[in-house]
Amino acid sequence: MISTVAGSSVGRATSVTLSQIAPDYHSGGILVSMGVTSLYEKYHASRQDERLGLFESVCAEFAINRGLYPGCFVHVTPSFVIPEMYYVDADGNANKFFADGVARELVERNRVYDDSPFLQFHFQDYQRPIPIDDGHVGLLISQYAGFVSENCKRYLSQGGYLIANNSHGDAGLASCDPEFRLVAVVNRRGERWSLGTGNLSDYFIPKSRTVPQEPSDLADHIRDLGKGIAYTRTASDYVFEKV
Ligand SMILES: C[S@@+](CC[C@H](N)C(=O)[O-])C[C@H]1O[C@@H](n2cnc3c(N)ncnc32)[C@H](O)[C@@H]1O
Repeated sequence: MISTVAGSSVGRATSVTLSQIAPDYHSGGILVSMGVTSLYEKYHASRQDERLGLFESVCAEFAINRGLYPGCFVHVTPSFVIPEMYYVDADGNANKFFADGVARELVERNRVYDDSPFLQFHFQDYQRPIPIDDGHVGLLISQYAGFVSENCKRYLSQGGYLIANNSHGDAGLASCDPEFRLVAVVNRRGERWSLGTGNLSDYFIPKSRTVPQEPSDLADHIRDLGKGIAYTRTASDYVFEKV
């Protein structure tokens, strides 16, 4: 089933079909339309910040068919390579972007797989229960949207993967969580993304000697700070396995 679902936090959901896509949205080329359509262009394409290589490199290394992206805003790039994606955001413009069918049209034009894409959007706070079964997804995505890992790990299958950056401290928080094990790092150089699995013990060593040493205390410290701390060696993104 192909559907874009825009539901409120009380559970209302709307299915949107291709015929409902905004009439000013013309096909061919990359985004050139008005209104919410331009949000992807504005925030991702025009800034060379689609991060497609991140998702390509992780999917090439690990078998992933189904993912969840809390705090996605309009960043639907994961759906270009992952056939079944669930998105969550509390922002009204994100809701409109998905409800208007813009997101699915964009994915239809850029997907690299044969299957019809499945996208589902939940318009809500990701800290509240998301109507997805526990353990349903094989990938959880955390990008510049707070502490996604601890709030949403219940939806990730055992053996599933978390992609997190450390902008808001979420990768650091995951590194303190006994349910997560670092299995790869991903680095960006221009438009090239490279995944590495060597020397992983070099990461998440705090630069400061005054931060708490115990993982649970360090996690509290990061939560209190609400952002990442400095480490001796860093990567653009980190991949953790849920153990
Ligand atoms: C800085 S934007 C990042 C968007 C996207 N992840 C990216 O990397 O381009 C942060 C987004 O997270 C959303 N967000 C933050 N906390 C949230 C929460 N608790 N529930 C739902 N959405 C949240 C905001 O609404 C916003 O759209």
